[in-house]
Amino acid sequence: MAAPETLDALFLAHAAVLAATTERALAAAGADAVVIGAGFQRYRFLDDQPDPFVANPHFRAWAPILNAPGSFVVYVPGRRPLLLFHQPEDYWHKPPASPHGGWVEAFDLRVIRNPAEARAHVPAGAAYVGEPFSGCEEWRFGAVNPPALVDRLHWARGTKTPYELACLRQAARLGARAHRAAAGAFLAGASEYEIHLAYLEATGHCEAELPYPNIIALNEGAAVLHYTDLSRDQPAVRRSLLIDAGAQCRSYACDITRTHVAAGSPFADLVAGLDAAEQRLCAMVRPGRPYPEIHFEAHRLVAALLVEHGLVTCSADAAVETGVTRVFFPHGVGHLLGLQVHDVGGHQAAEDGGRAPPPADHPFLRLTRRLEPGMVVTIEPGIYFIDLLLDQARADGRGRHIDWDTVADLAPYGGVRIEDDVVALPDGPDNLTRAAFAGLGS
Ligand code: GLY
Ligand code: MN
Ligand code: MN
Repeated sequence: MAAPETLDALFLAHAAVLAATTERALAAAGADAVVIGAGFQRYRFLDDQPDPFVANPHFRAWAPILNAPGSFVVYVPGRRPLLLFHQPEDYWHKPPASPHGGWVEAFDLRVIRNPAEARAHVPAGAAYVGEPFSGCEEWRFGAVNPPALVDRLHWARGTKTPYELACLRQAARLGARAHRAAAGAFLAGASEYEIHLAYLEATGHCEAELPYPNIIALNEGAAVLHYTDLSRDQPAVRRSLLIDAGAQCRSYACDITRTHVAAGSPFADLVAGLDAAEQRLCAMVRPGRPYPEIHFEAHRLVAALLVEHGLVTCSADAAVETGVTRVFFPHGVGHLLGLQVHDVGGHQAAEDGGRAPPPADHPFLRLTRRLEPGMVVTIEPGIYFIDLLLDQARADGRGRHIDWDTVADLAPYGGVRIEDDVVALPDGPDNLTRAAFAGLGS
């Protein structure tokens, strides 16, 4: 694992890149300064119990602290960024620890005891980026989340700095280690809930620190794309496990899916076939390539597997053309990854905004941009047996191409998804996930 000092040293260069990007974005937006709010603690309706706090990702891009409700970053081009760190005086709760570590050197740091104290540090007319908060009209911001600024920041977040890549690499290592622990728990006979606990323990995260809720599905549960039930029951038969679970380093996420099959099952061949197809798709992650090309190639590879495994009776070309592949593979092949598991800007047309929506037949494709050096994307094809979609196919005629006996044989396994996190680099793709698993040894 990268030492904290290594990440801190990289952070200083990251902060300089962020400052330069922000300066250009401010100039385009006609603003002289920006205030980025972390956000505030939310409480449940009619209750005094807090929801987990998740800071505004733009705040986290600047300051790698998760527990910072009521804090702000103020950036005025040409000056050191100012971190207004909210540390209340409180004897009910432990106040957040003061920021520490080499990364803090990038900032002027000031501790505030009340968020309202930040107002005195807001330059006149500064733009505000963050969730609007009660009373923010009185702070006299020049604009709140102006698109000319925010679009540019979102666009820039698509490509990662060396610091961000190091964090993502570390998150992938943590995720791989936890996936290994989860696979062991599955083989030892654990329930979904127990697999979840084994996964959490191996990450060292508490649940609120995960980048997204763990998807841990035994058997038919794998047919629910985002299955998060965590059943405590031991199924009578243990056929398969689909686990889609992440981890984070300084708030940068990994997003990894593996599908495990009990020994000797016919489903294992389909899983192996999809794994090979997934690696071919990962090899396509290169600067200059429009990401939708990878999505359409995924449909061709899924079609070939459907033919090979007897799930369809038509040709692979016909399976794609008639939309049969979308019955089995109904989501996009992946998305941008970073401070958010589904990172922002995937449908943005250009640096200065505009939308590049996905094709009408592929509404769940989350990324339509052309890949650039330093972009990090997931590659996550899947094949599932989803009753709702199979019933639709029966009703709309696509069902005539489907071999229903083979579907019935494999449906008890739910489905398979394989997901890796890959960096587009000029000299070829860097698969963070495969490298992380390889680093674990056997
Ligand atoms: N874990 C959610 C996704 O793969 O997009
Ligand atoms: Mn994903
Ligand atoms: Mn995932």
